[in-house]
Amino acid sequence: MISSGLDIEIKNFSQGKPIERQYFQFSELDCPNLENYVASLLRSISLEFLLEIVFTVLNELLVNAFKANVKRVYFEKIGKNIFNKEDYLEGIANFREEFGDLNSGLVDAVEKSNYRIQLKLLNEKDKIRFWVSNNASMVDEEMERINTRLISASKVKNLTEAYQDNLDSYESSGLGLVLVQLLLRNSGITENFFSIRSENDITTAYFEIPKEIIPLEMKEKIRKILLDGVEGLPPFPKNISNLLSIVNNKNSTIQKISTEIEKDPGITVEVIKLSNSALFQVQGQIASVSEAIKRIGLRNIEKILYAAGARSVFPLKNSRVKEIWKHASLSAFMSVHLSQLRNPHARKELCSIGGLLHDLGRMVLVTLDTYLIEVINNLREDRLMNHSSFIEEITLGANHTEIGLILATKWNFPEELKEIIAHHHRPWQSKQSFLAECETVYIADIMANLQRKRTNFAILDPNILAKFSIKTYEQLVEMADDLSLKFSKLASEEEKEELN
Ligand SMILES: [Fe+2]
Ligand SMILES: [Fe+2]
Repeated sequence: MISSGLDIEIKNFSQGKPIERQYFQFSELDCPNLENYVASLLRSISLEFLLEIVFTVLNELLVNAFKANVKRVYFEKIGKNIFNKEDYLEGIANFREEFGDLNSGLVDAVEKSNYRIQLKLLNEKDKIRFWVSNNASMVDEEMERINTRLISASKVKNLTEAYQDNLDSYESSGLGLVLVQLLLRNSGITENFFSIRSENDITTAYFEIPKEIIPLEMKEKIRKILLDGVEGLPPFPKNISNLLSIVNNKNSTIQKISTEIEKDPGITVEVIKLSNSALFQVQGQIASVSEAIKRIGLRNIEKILYAAGARSVFPLKNSRVKEIWKHASLSAFMSVHLSQLRNPHARKELCSIGGLLHDLGRMVLVTLDTYLIEVINNLREDRLMNHSSFIEEITLGANHTEIGLILATKWNFPEELKEIIAHHHRPWQSKQSFLAECETVYIADIMANLQRKRTNFAILDPNILAKFSIKTYEQLVEMADDLSLKFSKLASEEEKEELN
């Protein structure tokens, strides 16, 4: 593979210059490389959630292009003319077997030949364009086969149907192209997105992905619904914001602060409970507010007050909110540990509260009126989109950081907290002064989520992972398992009960 340095490629791509790569061959062995490459490019334009679909389609097209080249080398080897129909039908019958045979020497022969594959990408304002080409013309039979497939792909709804509909007698099982079509279509990409063309001894498969997959009008509607949802939420509890100003007043004594907090039994319980939580790992039990202030410090009390405010608006009795608090407690715990272990620049207290409140936006989303949720779902169904992780990202997922930020702003949260809420999935977009904490919460959130679902390692930023000495998926899992075990050992009985 010829490459001019990944960094330059990423820079050119993000600036809208076309970038190209050449391959002599392409097989499963090249997949991880391709996936990481595509991930870095997509990350540079903050569209990393497109990774799965772009990688799957490119992989399919590159394998096809390689097969086409091998086929030509094979025909040269057996002395048959690929453009002659009789020769073609005769040769193709044995090609599949030879292609599958690793010892046939075909792959080596391709390397020595002039056949190449080229991948070209171009990032434009409203779409990303992709070309995969090989330097050989298609023969009529191949063209015909592809057309049949594209037509059948337009009729089927899913792969099972495609399989029944498409019993190809030669070459591959023939589902690759159908898969490409289905993937693009199920992601809401419906028009003029895909074509294959053969001219001047070059065959090119082309596809494009619009950056705004949801029509702007619908996006605006969803946004408006979500904003109304935030608007309808209660303000930050007045009693807690009063306490916050007392805590932040330099003239307040510990005595004054604890007396004021203790005037409110609900908040007192919350402060003591959170001070005793696994997050702060205090020895023995903290029994009073003044003890909490002395042992975990005023900065932590301040953060606890923010969390207590959020908890009063999003109470645990809602089971979906409870799920998020559970995830939040584990993320907070992991953030603190990660900052201690691997990221000394990150401020520990900020990591803990950031971990605890990073998904504030998700709490908003799950507590929205069922009516509003239904409206959003109907809007999505209109688009026939089934590709779940992808849809979640473009409709709800991508919004939760924005919604969280809007609520945090409404509630007058300090800037550092707002940064974490807004950038915990893309720390590279945060302000330099809060980068260390955003990166820490980013990794902690990923680790905490590993307990529920597998993550695509390639989508994660390798530079940030490296700061935490994580190079492989296995290392990530090992660290996550280790921390969550520590968490469950340290969690107070009450905390366990609350979160179970
Ligand atoms: Fe999140
Ligand atoms: Fe999260």
